[in-house]
Amino acid sequence: MKLLFVKTVHTNDPFEAAKFIKRGGIVAFPTETVYGLGANVFDASAIAKVFDAKRRPTDNPLIAHISNTGQISELAVAITASAGKLIAAFFPGPLTIVLKKLQAVPEIATAGLDTIGIRMPRSDLVRQFLAACEAPIVAPSANLSGRPSPTTWQAVAEDLNGRIDCILQGEPTKIGLESTVVDCTSDIPIVLRSGAVSLEQLREIAPETIKYETTPSEAPRSPGLRHKHYSPKARIVIADAGTNFSEVENAAYIGQNSPPTMFERLRICSTIEEYAHSMFEFFRECDRAGIQTIFCEPVDETGIGTALMDRIRRAAQE
Ligand code: TXA
Ligand code: MG
Repeated sequence: MKLLFVKTVHTNDPFEAAKFIKRGGIVAFPTETVYGLGANVFDASAIAKVFDAKRRPTDNPLIAHISNTGQISELAVAITASAGKLIAAFFPGPLTIVLKKLQAVPEIATAGLDTIGIRMPRSDLVRQFLAACEAPIVAPSANLSGRPSPTTWQAVAEDLNGRIDCILQGEPTKIGLESTVVDCTSDIPIVLRSGAVSLEQLREIAPETIKYETTPSEAPRSPGLRHKHYSPKARIVIADAGTNFSEVENAAYIGQNSPPTMFERLRICSTIEEYAHSMFEFFRECDRAGIQTIFCEPVDETGIGTALMDRIRRAAQE
């Protein structure tokens, strides 16, 4: 479908933003992880606009965002025991649980799957917005498909101005990496996408939690993981001990330790949380500055480091 130019209204008012949803429109809004691009979960034609605006492949399901746990019963057949434990511990927060969906949820929302991802984001502004929408809101990250996820409203505007009805402007997002997606359809929680809640944190609540591992020939259970992701225009190189920086011009570097050579752009992060928080915006800054290669220092794969390395590896994929 060809998308016509739409005027994108910018507002700080969650109630004004919610009016667009109620009229069948699509609205970008801040969460504690990244900005999302929302539509009413029960409005199939609004959801189609979300896929169009982002140029998102239609085989990639969306996460439903709720303002209170009562809304789970509008979406899911039942709350399993494993889901109940994780909801009690992590909602509101950067965790998405996957449950069997109700028939009433349109197929387009879940890309034909019989399950739906559900999460309750944490910041006050997003909670006010979601409550004012009076329905669960399905939302992927508010970037053009394949680009780095947006952590500021300016990054949303860069990708989607003229393609969506409204941007609810908030602060830069607190965490900067997406939620952890956990399949809770059975007794054993299975991490489908690593994210802001670490495996260690999940296991404190549900020690049986496992990470879903695919062999290269298998289709991933979280369909989004099949697609190219998080990529700036610049080439991403994971900088390890053997990396030769000297022959590369017009390059940038992000990591926790100072590199041995000079770079056009440099971001040294004092903590891994700061690295996670700044990486996507750094990628975008580098694109604006015409950087051709971005070196990313690898991190230990514990805590949020697992999700950070996952995003760096995907961004580095050709
Ligand atoms: O933090 C986040 O999760 C952000 C904010 C906006 O909430 N959202 C986000 O959405 O990252 P998106 O669409 O960019 O990524 C959602 C991921 C995809 O990998 C998708 O395949 C997976 O969640 N997913 C969604 N529903 C699923 C389901 N029913 N079963 C398995 N995976 C699912
Ligand atoms: Mg995304």
